[in-house]
Amino acid sequence: MRHKILVTGGAGYIGSHTALALLQAGYDVIVIDNLSNSSKVSLERVGEIAGRNPLFIEGDLRDAALVNQIFNDHPIESVLHFAALKSVEESVREPLRYFENNLVSTMTLCQAMANANVFNLVFSSSAVVYGAPSIVPIAEHHPTGQTTNPYGRSKFMIEQMLADLAEADPRWKIAILRYFNPVGAHPNGLIGEDPNGMPNNLVPYICRVAVGTLAELKIFGNDYPTADGTGVRDYIHVLDLADGHLSALDAIRKSGGTHIWNLGTGQGNSVLEVLREFEDISGRPIPYKIAPRRPGDIATCFADVSKAERELGWKAKYTLNEMLRDAWKWQSTNPLGYK
Ligand code: NAD
Ligand code: UD1
Repeated sequence: MRHKILVTGGAGYIGSHTALALLQAGYDVIVIDNLSNSSKVSLERVGEIAGRNPLFIEGDLRDAALVNQIFNDHPIESVLHFAALKSVEESVREPLRYFENNLVSTMTLCQAMANANVFNLVFSSSAVVYGAPSIVPIAEHHPTGQTTNPYGRSKFMIEQMLADLAEADPRWKIAILRYFNPVGAHPNGLIGEDPNGMPNNLVPYICRVAVGTLAELKIFGNDYPTADGTGVRDYIHVLDLADGHLSALDAIRKSGGTHIWNLGTGQGNSVLEVLREFEDISGRPIPYKIAPRRPGDIATCFADVSKAERELGWKAKYTLNEMLRDAWKWQSTNPLGYK
């Protein structure tokens, strides 16, 4: 009987939290990760928290022989596909590396799944596929494809590829999950987000300023048409996101076809709101400077989450305060991340 779950990119930020949620829900988990943006310490900690370990295979998803072998060796029933390169800025500089890594890994994975008659797939997409939204909240049927960078285009192209796959063969059961802004960490402070080099995203950047490894935050623009002029985003706790994957997995097992669900809270918060809330929680001042707008940034982005609520029975539970509390707990107890 096939019953194991393969988690690609499971040593990474969202994958490790989801691997933990799967283990805690009683699943057997196999992780494949090439550790290009992560450390296997995350999985050791996942094992510590869960009381049992995921099986870790260090390898690259573009290695077709290896991926086929994994499906031959293990009774895999479903796949959660997180593995990807994810830096917008890097993708602008190195588009080929991004297209090659993200598209070839997904094609190799899908081919190996089909070879092994495994058709349940949950894919990590992003609100980036919506580009600059004409209205908010953004629902799943809103236009996609006007993405402004190669990373975003790689996600959009994979979404289209998966839709074509499902169209060609009705055995595929695919959940495309469009995440808004994942933040936070496991509340016990053992696992969290550990970006390589300079963080690009707001919350990891603020955390580094708070621990003193970065001097000040640059706020990218205070002249947006928002209440305080700074950008508004839909921040979602990584534990809520992990839980959304379990709900999506349940749902696709029961029904066929391709489904798209936004995973967000439906609330928007500005950069200054996040900053003030973080200062309150950490008790540390976060020095900042207003800088020019970051190219490609938009004013406001938050999700219409009613489809996921209705169809998955899933709803984000954690508040912004809890997200920042947990991000701070992780960063303050692991100032150097997993190193
Ligand atoms: P992450 O970088 O922490 O995790 C991705 C993992 O995939 C890393 O451990 C990396 O080593 C691995 N990987 C990359 N290419 C691989 C390959 N060819 N073979 C094997 N392993 C490979 O990123 P994350 O934040 O956990 O993101 C997970 C997924 O969610 C990604 O697909 C990302 O694009 C998507 N996503 C993330 C965010 C976010 O803000 N974090 C938002 C929207 C969507
Ligand atoms: C970014 C990516 C997006 C990706 C998402 C995942 C870009 C252009 N977009 O989105 O593709 O899906 O992360 O989390 O990188 N900010 C600052 N100073 C900073 C960092 C951020 O002011 O040092 C502001 C931004 O201008 C934005 C907000 O904080 O208003 C959130 O930024 P960030 O965390 O990078 O997320 P997104 O821009 O939404």
